[in-house]
Amino acid sequence: MLKVIIDTDTAGDDTTALMLALRSSNVRVEAITINCGNVAFDQQVENALYTVELSGNSGRVPVYPGARRPLLRDWQTVEEVHGKDGMGNSFFPKARQRPEEKHAVDAMIESINKNPNEVTVIEQAPMTNLAMAIRKDPEIVRKIRRVYFMGGTNQYLGNVTPAAEFNIWVDPDAAKIVFHSGVNLTMVGWEICMKYGLLMPDEIAEIESLHTKESDFFIKVNSVAREFLKKSTGIDAIPCPDSITVAMVLDPSIATSVKKRYVDVDNQSEISRGATWVDELAVWSKKPNMEVVYEASKSKFRSLLMKMLKGQTI
Ligand code: RIB
Ligand code: CA
Repeated sequence: MLKVIIDTDTAGDDTTALMLALRSSNVRVEAITINCGNVAFDQQVENALYTVELSGNSGRVPVYPGARRPLLRDWQTVEEVHGKDGMGNSFFPKARQRPEEKHAVDAMIESINKNPNEVTVIEQAPMTNLAMAIRKDPEIVRKIRRVYFMGGTNQYLGNVTPAAEFNIWVDPDAAKIVFHSGVNLTMVGWEICMKYGLLMPDEIAEIESLHTKESDFFIKVNSVAREFLKKSTGIDAIPCPDSITVAMVLDPSIATSVKKRYVDVDNQSEISRGATWVDELAVWSKKPNMEVVYEASKSKFRSLLMKMLKGQTI
């Protein structure tokens, strides 16, 4: 049984990513931790709790609120991408389960220390909580099995600025700490998600026709994200960056080309704040500090997703 901690700024696709892990028979979700990012912090907490309930895990998977702000900077939430509630303006009722009292950073540290070399951390949000956990207990670095993160770009095709992807842009200082900590890392960058993790109109229509509670939920929470992508890029599709990242954890064969690279992040300049520099030609002559995903199997990802959306255990 794979043990995971999922760090999330729960809105839109974050919920599908959570559902995939919560519905996997091979995975035990030790904790869901909430980091500032997509929408108002308390709303993100409610969105995670609602998703846990919908997945049938109410009371079994704890949700820990964490960093309400990045380490040093201000950022803007993106209600225009995910809706006012982050859930496609669905305004779901509050779940019965309530958030834990313990801070996400302490929950991460405790879970990793209790299960040395067993916990995979999935970062589908800015990395403030993880960076704080590493600063508070540096020993956890060698006890984390691996961190998979949805974030950054392989070749500077950003979604929030031309240079940067949102999760890394929000807290580049946290990313700096994590990138240079020595922890095992796998990066799933924005272009890879846009290439292999986009659901096109025929696939969306197939999901609509399922009429399960999972598929109805998926369509609702991603409705504003679909409109936003169409308006901003002309592409009619639902982007699933966090979901394809979780899918790679559940089935590593979904990542079909992975290379070891040295990657740094710009936390110095304003214009390229949060840009991830992948040293493709090894011109810095530095030891690789992470694995970077270059190609993925969309068909394997889609099969896994469809199974979950049909209400099946994956
Ligand atoms: O840039 C995409 C990422 O930023 C996703 O994790 C999305 O949920 C937002 O957090
Ligand atoms: Ca996210």
